[in-house]
Amino acid sequence: MNNATMEDLVSLCKRRGFIYQSNEIYGGLQGLYDYGPLGVELKNNLKKSWWKSMIYERDDIEGIDSSILTNPLVLKYSGHENTFTDPLVDCKSCGERFRADQVPDYCKKEDLTEPRQFNLMFKTNVGPIEDGNSFAYLRPETAQNIFTNFKNVLDSNPHPLPFGIAQMGKAFRNEITPRNFIFRVREFEQMELEFFVKPGEDEEWHKKWTDLRLQWWEDQGVSKDSLEIYHVPDDELAHYSKATVDIMYNFPHGLEELEGIANRTDFDLGSHTRGQKDLDIDATVAENTQSNAKLAIQDLENKQWVVPYVIEPSAGVDRGFLAILNEAYKVESLENNKERTVLSLKPHLAPIKIAVIPLKRNENSIVMTSVDLKNDLQRTIEGRVLLENTGNIGKNYRKHDEIGTPACITVDFQTLEDNSVTIRDRDTMDQTRLKIDEVRTFLAQNYQI
Ligand code: GLY
Repeated sequence: MNNATMEDLVSLCKRRGFIYQSNEIYGGLQGLYDYGPLGVELKNNLKKSWWKSMIYERDDIEGIDSSILTNPLVLKYSGHENTFTDPLVDCKSCGERFRADQVPDYCKKEDLTEPRQFNLMFKTNVGPIEDGNSFAYLRPETAQNIFTNFKNVLDSNPHPLPFGIAQMGKAFRNEITPRNFIFRVREFEQMELEFFVKPGEDEEWHKKWTDLRLQWWEDQGVSKDSLEIYHVPDDELAHYSKATVDIMYNFPHGLEELEGIANRTDFDLGSHTRGQKDLDIDATVAENTQSNAKLAIQDLENKQWVVPYVIEPSAGVDRGFLAILNEAYKVESLENNKERTVLSLKPHLAPIKIAVIPLKRNENSIVMTSVDLKNDLQRTIEGRVLLENTGNIGKNYRKHDEIGTPACITVDFQTLEDNSVTIRDRDTMDQTRLKIDEVRTFLAQNYQI
């Protein structure tokens, strides 16, 4: 745990190129952010780590990557057209609009209008005619096209129950009041798994996935002490959920949801399937007259058609990014009354894996040896190895501490004589002298890169 404020994190992100306000040169656009050179690396590393744990380390989950523009029928039958809303109020005094539960103190109760429901989905026109009938939604969750592809995936990649389909990607919500930096935004990324199980085994799998997801966040460097489990009360559940467990994280602005793990029952497949009457669907679903696919699976033993239940761990990439940054951010006191900011990221998440630093910028042999070492390491290290050729070693160490580079390698005059380099560790600041041909093994052993 640490004491970073949101201002500390926002300032670091801008200064070092993790995150910028989107469209900033034209005054920005509320609730949108851009990831810079370091941010895109950290974000991609986080997504890679999720994909590895979901797809590569298991044999019962397939990945997909579906379209963002979504046929309105999908979101009609999913229930989003009717229920994906927030209550909105207008303040007659200041003229602003707020979510009913987020009205600032300066608005008086008597100045507020009655709440009315506001749908959070973005629409856009599709094709050349803008007559209001040819529109698509920008998906509000990646989950829906997992359900609509259920039959495609099973037909092409058969699995018995339980099995899952996962996807990561952008989702969009027209939040009434985006806030808290990248925590609540209008365009964001999700990492979602829909895990299909036999009805009756859903509660057991709900618990299993909650434990697995908690462990995964800890493996990304989020300490147990910063995480809490919250059982969402019945009256706050999403329209599709029978039970939801939120993994809450202690963000700089307070304890809030990092990931939700929902038991969506057979609501989604039951809503999108054709032939509802012939299937045993437990959830209350609207009659579907337009789907052309049977979204059910045949039980191998008794040949009965089953509409699986779904357990859905749904994590926010941007929220994850913020939590990881917050966990890693530390300001340490050094000798002689100095301080350093250090980002103690796990090496697999660090935007720069290794910085190779020539001690002297204009010394050709030192620079050439550094370039060779950088290129050599980059061949086998997954992630970015950076040649840091600015010649001020102290400044370079401070910079790489602050952006979370696990180790810096310095090439100096002694390197030219005996082929040895110095490796400096970010967290301990210890320096180790070793031969260039020992470097790769040292990095693998000490940093798992
Ligand atoms: N799929 C769950 C959510 O987007 O909240």
